[in-house]
Amino acid sequence: MSTRLTINYNRKPCYDIVYSDNFKEFILEFEDLAIGERNICIITDSNVEKLYGEEIKALFENHCRKVVIFSFPAGEQSKTLDTVKAAYTFLIQEKFSRKDLLVALGGGVVGDLTGYTAATFLRGMEFIQIPTTLLAQVDSSIGGKTGVDFDQYKNMVGAFHMPKLVYINLSTLRDLDDRQYYAGMAEVMKGGLLRDSLFYEWLLANMYEICERNLTTMEEMVMRADQIKKVIVEKDPTEKADRALLNLGHTIGHAIEKAKNFELLHGECVALGCVAAAYISMKHQLLSADEYYEVRDMFVPFQLPITVENIDPQEILELTKSDKKMESGKIKFILLKKIGKAVVDMTVTDEEILEAIQEIYFSEEDARQ
Ligand code: GLY
Repeated sequence: MSTRLTINYNRKPCYDIVYSDNFKEFILEFEDLAIGERNICIITDSNVEKLYGEEIKALFENHCRKVVIFSFPAGEQSKTLDTVKAAYTFLIQEKFSRKDLLVALGGGVVGDLTGYTAATFLRGMEFIQIPTTLLAQVDSSIGGKTGVDFDQYKNMVGAFHMPKLVYINLSTLRDLDDRQYYAGMAEVMKGGLLRDSLFYEWLLANMYEICERNLTTMEEMVMRADQIKKVIVEKDPTEKADRALLNLGHTIGHAIEKAKNFELLHGECVALGCVAAAYISMKHQLLSADEYYEVRDMFVPFQLPITVENIDPQEILELTKSDKKMESGKIKFILLKKIGKAVVDMTVTDEEILEAIQEIYFSEEDARQ
C-alpha cells in the first residue's frame, strides 16, 4: 500500500510524491494523470532502460494513446543541450503536442534533462518523475529544478518546472550498485546536517539497516529527507532565499566534480564539499573542532570520500568561483551554524576556501607519510 506527501506551490497543492515498494501501484495514478487520450514519452538512459524501460512501457500500454521510449547514453556527459535537441527531434518525429506527457525514468541526469525538455518543448508540457536512484529520490526529483550543464558549468541552463507527480518505488534502491547507493547518502545526510539534527542522529542510529538496504528503513529515510526538502522548497520555490541552503556541500563539490571530469559521482563530491564547508564553519567558530571531526567522519561508514587525490587546489578555487552560486561577485557559501542548522554566508574568503580544499586534498606527500 502506497503512502504520499503533497508538495504545495504558491500555497496550493501542486503534486504528490507517492512511495511504494513496486511499480504496479503506479497504475492507480493514471486516472488523476488523465492519460487516456495522451501520447507518452518515457525519457531514460541506457542503464535504466535495460532495467525498467519495458516494464514501465507495458504499464502504460492500452491506457494511453501511444507510448514510446527515448533513451540516451548514461552519464553526466549526456546532460547537455545536444541531448535535449535529440529529444526535441524525437518528439517532433513522434508528433507530440503540448497536451502529451513526458516521463523521467532514472536518476538525477534523466530527471533534470527530461524536466528541462518538458519546460521548453512547445513552450511547456507536463512531465512526471519516476526517480530510480537514492540521489534522485531525496533531492533532484523534488522541487521542480530542471536543466542541463553548459560548457564547464554545471546546471547552467535550466528552468523551474514542477512535475505532475513523483512516483518512488523504493525497491529500485536495491538494484543500485553500492557506489551509486552511497553517493545518494550524501544528499540524505546533507538534509540532516542543514535542517534536522534528530534525523542526523537517526541516520547514525540506523546505519546498519541503511547499509543493509532494509525497505522499511529506506522508506522512513527517503520520506524524512523529502519532508526536509518539502518545507524548504514550499517556502522558497525559486531559490530567492532559504532554498540556497540545499546547496550545502555543492559550492566546492561542483568544482571537484568538474575538475575530476565526472570521474567522481555527484554525491561523492557533495560529501567532500560538506566536509570542506564544515571545516570553514569551524574556522568561522560556528562549529567546534569536535563537531567538525564528527561531521567529517560520519561520511566514512557510508563509504563516502572525505579526501580526494590528484586535484590542483588552485584550480578548484577558480572553478568554485566560476560556479553559479555567486551574488554581486561574492560566493554564496552555505555554512553550518551547528549540526542541524545551515546558514548562508557571503564573507568566506579565497584563502579560507583554499585552506578547506587543502584539508580535503590527499596529496602525494600525505601518501608518503
Ligand atoms: N538540489 C538543490 C535544490 O533542489 O534546490
